[in-house]
Amino acid sequence: MQEKLSLAEAFKEAAFQLPAHGKRNVQVLKEVFEQIEGHLDSDIYGTGKVIEDFQANMAEVLGKEAAVFFPSGTMAQQIALRLWCDRKGLNQVAYHPLCHLEIHEEDGLKQLHHIESVLLADKNRLITLEDVQGMPEEVACLLLELPQREIGGQLPEYSELEAISAYCREKGIYLHLDGARLFEVLPYYQKSAAEVCALFDSVYISVYKGIGGIAGAVLAGTADFTAESKVWKRRHGGDLISLYPYIIPADFYFKQRVHKMEKYYEEAKALAALYNQCHAVTTLPLEPVSNMFHVHVSLPKTVVEDVLIDLYQATGIGLTSYVREVDEFSSYYEVSIGDNYSGVPQDKLQSLFVRLNERLQQASS
Ligand SMILES: Cc1ncc(COP(=O)(O)O)c(C=O)c1O
Repeated sequence: MQEKLSLAEAFKEAAFQLPAHGKRNVQVLKEVFEQIEGHLDSDIYGTGKVIEDFQANMAEVLGKEAAVFFPSGTMAQQIALRLWCDRKGLNQVAYHPLCHLEIHEEDGLKQLHHIESVLLADKNRLITLEDVQGMPEEVACLLLELPQREIGGQLPEYSELEAISAYCREKGIYLHLDGARLFEVLPYYQKSAAEVCALFDSVYISVYKGIGGIAGAVLAGTADFTAESKVWKRRHGGDLISLYPYIIPADFYFKQRVHKMEKYYEEAKALAALYNQCHAVTTLPLEPVSNMFHVHVSLPKTVVEDVLIDLYQATGIGLTSYVREVDEFSSYYEVSIGDNYSGVPQDKLQSLFVRLNERLQQASS
């Protein structure tokens, strides 16, 4: 008898994968470098045309005086917060309980910089103006993440964001944007990147999420802030002698995808609507506000996994490679829309969801 596949294996074997841009394989890099002349000079320790041109372009897109390329957002954001704390002479920052710094960075901010965090809002909802106004302690900086990834990519209304920004300016609290997925939220806000960034003192964006590069991040702000950030980048070992293997794909895929964010957003809404018609399923948010959302199923993780494995094998379409447990009765997974979505035939997708609904009904009874 054939051994049963895991969900990740069944996903990989499916003819179509619905989320993301495609496989994270070497082809992503090859596609870019096939078009680049071999005599192009490398950047050297943060200097050189290849890095400087990209940084100047990103500064313009983000409407800031200057921008710096970093190997990771983790490094860029810890440095940004360190700089704001030094300026204020106060080692305390505020952010959401589920922000990347708090749950995914092994306490880098605390261990490396001795900066403490004030957690604002309940973990299941967004930070509001009221939370900021009622902050129990003084902080040097407030970090806001747009969209708030760990709660399905929710977003505050733009007016709320403007009010938080105005309040922080009035109180002398620096405001930093974790914009790992900034371009992905612009179609919902109907704003330019520069308009959103104008509400913040410093901004980080990722080049490998919606943009789909290899790895890396950009930190933008005033010229003096970014100049200081370069000193810390050096201290952190972030000044790799050559960063071009990351910068050239970042530039390539940025130009290729930045105009597709509206399309991904519309597709995410259409897909979430299909999910929400299924038994025991609700998406968070109910209507996505970017290219991402979470799929919550009120069935145990192992039951959902079995349903999905059968579904992938029957239809040739993979919806997710993993399911996470919420509790013993419910589970969820994240969906991010990219280039893959439009490659999946619509009729196949419609029949997949009819089948998914039936299978979930059976699994519940
Ligand atoms: C919201 C958010 N902030 C920061 C980061 C850190 O980015 P990096 O992986 O480049 O360190 C991530 C990465 O997943 C993220 O999702």
